[in-house]
Amino acid sequence: MPAPHLDAYAPDAPDAAERLQSARDAVAALPVRRDQLLPAFQAAQHALGWLPREAIEHVASHLRLPVSEVYATATAYSELRLERPEAGAWYVCTGVACDLAGSDALIEAAGTHARRIDCQFLCALAPVVHDDAERLYGRVTPDDLRAQVDAR
Ligand code: FES
Repeated sequence: MPAPHLDAYAPDAPDAAERLQSARDAVAALPVRRDQLLPAFQAAQHALGWLPREAIEHVASHLRLPVSEVYATATAYSELRLERPEAGAWYVCTGVACDLAGSDALIEAAGTHARRIDCQFLCALAPVVHDDAERLYGRVTPDDLRAQVDAR
């Protein structure tokens, strides 16, 4: 199994409490309004690299919404990560535009490092991939991706 991304929050890491507090502070700075749900997700994910259960619960608590509603909303946005990113993984969009632009060839180029993701809402740049640090790349060719994979 690939190693988790080193910069992503890990509950058992020595800096876990500090990083969670950083995410809490970022979310707490937002107004307590339902329309702040997506900004709260983005703030927490920016601080942690993904949205662990603790972050979902804090967002729900801050916005005074049920955890189930907050979690369900998070699952609807493909740009939100509910799993810890893997070191060295390449996330290849397999939405319709990217599929038509050749995402299958990118998955083959990335080999065991490829992970499939849904539309990233950057369809004009298809095919789209992002790396384990959420750096997005558009109009990627199989040769480009193979070179990136080999460089790591
Ligand atoms: S289908 Fe890939 S970004 Fe939309």
